[in-house]
Amino acid sequence: MELARLHRACLPDSVVGLLGERFVRAFYRYVDRSPLEILAVQRDERDRVVAAAVVSLAPETIYRRLLVATPLALALLVRPVVGGRLAWSMFRSAAVLAGGAPGAPEPGIPELILTFVDPREQGRGRGRSLIREVESRLRERGAGAFKVRTESRPGNAARGFYAALGFVPHGASVRFGTRFDVLTRTIDPA
Ligand SMILES: CC(C)(COP(=O)(O)OP(=O)(O)OC[C@H]1O[C@@H](n2cnc3c(N)ncnc32)[C@H](O)[C@@H]1OP(=O)(O)O)[C@@H](O)C(=O)NCCC(=O)NCCS
Repeated sequence: MELARLHRACLPDSVVGLLGERFVRAFYRYVDRSPLEILAVQRDERDRVVAAAVVSLAPETIYRRLLVATPLALALLVRPVVGGRLAWSMFRSAAVLAGGAPGAPEPGIPELILTFVDPREQGRGRGRSLIREVESRLRERGAGAFKVRTESRPGNAARGFYAALGFVPHGASVRFGTRFDVLTRTIDPA
C-alpha cells in the first residue's frame, strides 16, 4: 500500500512505523474505516500520495481499539522493546480516563496523531494544505479545537511548521520515554 510505504519512509521512528509493514497497512485500513478517526490524504497531479494525516477523535482509546481490530498484539510480541513503550502509554491513557496521572494532558479533544509530507514535496505548502483539510473535516464533526504532540528537542523541524500554522503551546508530556510539546489550535467555525 502506497500510504504505508510513504509513512515508513517519512516517519521511520514513529511507534506505528516501528511495528513493521504488516501492522502499518492494517493501521491505515483501520483508521480509514473507523468512525472515530479521520484520514486525510493528498495526491499530486499523477495521483500519487504525497501527504497524509491521521486525527483521532478518541486518542485515549486508539491503541486499545487497534489491539482488538488489527494484528497489533502480534507485532508487539515480536518487538518487545516497542511493545513495552506502548504498554506504558496505554497504561497512562487508562489512568487519564480514570482521572489519574497528574500532569497528563486532558482527554476529550481530538488529536492529530500523524502528519507527513513526501520529502520531495516538502516546503511547497503541502503540509499547510493538509492541515486545512484536517480542520475542515473536524469542523464538519463539530470540533472547536484539536491538539498535536511533537518532540521537544530543539532540532525538530515540525516545531517550526506548527508555529507557522498558529498552533499554541499547551504544556508538555512524556511518551515512550520521549518529551513532547503539546500544541493546540482553535478551529474557526466559519
Ligand atoms: C513537518 C511537515 C509536515 C511540513 O510539511 P511541508 O509541506 O514541508 O510544510 P509547508 O510547505 O506547508 O509549510 C507551511 C509553513 O510551515 C513553515 N515550515 C515548514 N517547515 C518548517 C521548518 N522546518 N522550520 C520552520 N518553518 C517551517 C513554512 O515556512 C510555511 O510557513 P509560511 O507559509 O508562513 O511560509 C513535513 O516537513 C514533514 O512531513 N516532515 C517529516 C515528518 C514530520 O516531522 N511530521 C510531524 C511529526 S509531529
